[in-house]
Amino acid sequence: MRRPIMAGNWKMYKNARETAEFIERFKPLVSKMDGCEIVVFPAAINIPAAVAAAGDSNVGVGGQNIYWGKEGAFTGEISADMLHAAGAGWVLVGHSERRHTVCHEADADVLKKTQAALAAGLKPVVCVGERLEEHKAGKTGEVLVRQFAAGVAGLTEEQFAQIVIAYEPVWAIGTGQTATPEIASSAHQLIRSEAEKRFGTEAANRLRILYGGSVKPDNIDGLMRQPEIDGALVGGASLDPESFFKIVSVAAPAR
Ligand code: 13P
Repeated sequence: MRRPIMAGNWKMYKNARETAEFIERFKPLVSKMDGCEIVVFPAAINIPAAVAAAGDSNVGVGGQNIYWGKEGAFTGEISADMLHAAGAGWVLVGHSERRHTVCHEADADVLKKTQAALAAGLKPVVCVGERLEEHKAGKTGEVLVRQFAAGVAGLTEEQFAQIVIAYEPVWAIGTGQTATPEIASSAHQLIRSEAEKRFGTEAANRLRILYGGSVKPDNIDGLMRQPEIDGALVGGASLDPESFFKIVSVAAPAR
């Protein structure tokens, strides 16, 4: 049985005080939920505030990005070791907003960042997903195969066992246009079959694949009913403690 993960990506929202306030309000709501893992991804500058507020609760904290170098002249970047030393346990890698906006992250960067995260003891959530024009052109499979080949297939079996993948169709992010449970499920199946080809059936069956893209309290139930969907990576609807609590609640009963 794959343990679900319910994660909130806060993107460039909340300052340190708001980060701590959210966690103080959210912690008691989820304190008895042991049916899933819960993680929030605040802005890097707010990781220490988040870690302090989370304390020894069941709310994990992760960063939204790292650079793969150990240290050096990389102005503005933070390393995996720095993030880990600040108390983060997780990191997002290859989020579409970093691949497709001004950051222009390449598929190959994703592999280097994932390896750096693992070496530092962080759990990477590797994000993949197709853009609207690719979706419309029926190229979802092609894009996912390419992203998996460049970003994930180069890991060792041992490394692969420690990662999580998030399928986030770019056309569903921040648009209110969630992928249907069936669309999400078939993309997850495709990712799992790529994993199976490269890492074997057992490893593929253990891989947790999250869905992200306009997840809300009123659509999470249908998504989580799909056996292929092992949790959610939530943007906008994770910014409010009550709303994120409602989403987490759907996964919390032991499946
Ligand atoms: P929204 O839930 O706001 O669509 O964002 C999804 C996302 O990008 C999570 O990483």
